[in-house]
Amino acid sequence: MNTKRHIVDLPVYQPGKPVDDVKRELGLSEVIKLASNENPYGSSPLAKQAILTEIENSNIYPDGASVELTAATAGHLGVRPEQLIWGNGADEIILMLARSFLEPGDETIMADLTFSQYRHNAVVENAAIVEVPLADGKQDLPAMLAAVTDRTKIVWICSPNNPTGTIVTERELVSFLDALPKSVLCVLDEAYCHFVDDPDYPDSIRLLDRYPNLVSLRTFSKIYGLAALRIGYGIAHPDVIHAINLVREPFNTARVSQAAAKAALSDQAFVDSCRENNLLQRDYLQGEFDRLGLAYFPTQANFILVDVGMPSREAFDRLLRRGFITRAGWSKYPNRLRVSIGTAEDNIKFVAALEEVLKEATVRK
Ligand SMILES: Cc1ncc(COP(=O)(O)O)c(C=O)c1O
Repeated sequence: MNTKRHIVDLPVYQPGKPVDDVKRELGLSEVIKLASNENPYGSSPLAKQAILTEIENSNIYPDGASVELTAATAGHLGVRPEQLIWGNGADEIILMLARSFLEPGDETIMADLTFSQYRHNAVVENAAIVEVPLADGKQDLPAMLAAVTDRTKIVWICSPNNPTGTIVTERELVSFLDALPKSVLCVLDEAYCHFVDDPDYPDSIRLLDRYPNLVSLRTFSKIYGLAALRIGYGIAHPDVIHAINLVREPFNTARVSQAAAKAALSDQAFVDSCRENNLLQRDYLQGEFDRLGLAYFPTQANFILVDVGMPSREAFDRLLRRGFITRAGWSKYPNRLRVSIGTAEDNIKFVAALEEVLKEATVRK
């Protein structure tokens, strides 16, 4: 087999462990997954009803351009329909951006710890990856700007950043965009934007007219609770959207996904309640980490990267045996575990299990 040489060493994406696998492997009756930043409150009843209704049309191809969903979303955001593009999750928008804009030898800039798919897709396109170290869990925009050369095509900014949960502020973003050459795309991944309560978080939609090289990424996988349906989108200048459309598969988003997303959008009461619950539970978990003396990056998302004072893989295994799936193995922060914020009940149980794990580790010392 003659696989392209530059992709042979790419790691295959390792998703959070599925609940049923863990139950079977460890003989547990209850397993709580706090690993993939999913919505623990499910999804809107309107979205579920729309899925059931749309199932009836399963024999018909979807509308490739997602016209109805585009119109609803454009109205909701206050943008023009030609500023939107849909993907099989925001993941696919990242893939299409790389496919449209990166050529072998081009440079692309990202933080040294951020969402893995920017790097992955850049490697597939044989682009040169320039990683800029996070400073205290935050993306260092001046350093990212300093890394721009005449070969740079895309700068990826994740805000809130996965896995650290930190944001870039409006002031940081605007001064970055003011100095960034217009030939370089700035992809601002806002998959977790709905969870933010920091008043300094930029309203990126408002910036789009001023910066035609800005792309915002959004998803229905997180606060809307539709991760299984794989639907996400990009918002940008129509020229950028056109360039992405050139590489889009004809029917890349499913009928049920489009229908569910449209219904979910109409249920902002569900979004508001998830957001409120997440903020309450975030404060609870961060308060418990303070009580336990564990360091963490204060989060603006639905997950927290917490220092558990031991190799995170060890804490992961010990928690797994107690029925909690988390995320470990960040080489930059070997003692940090990423924990998705669950429901009140899940979080109380998680903190109890974590305390046991910490006590075990102290006894061993
Ligand atoms: C920062 C970030 N961007 C994009 C995605 C992909 O989202 P989607 O499920 O829409 O593909 C994720 C998923 O975890 C993410 O964390």
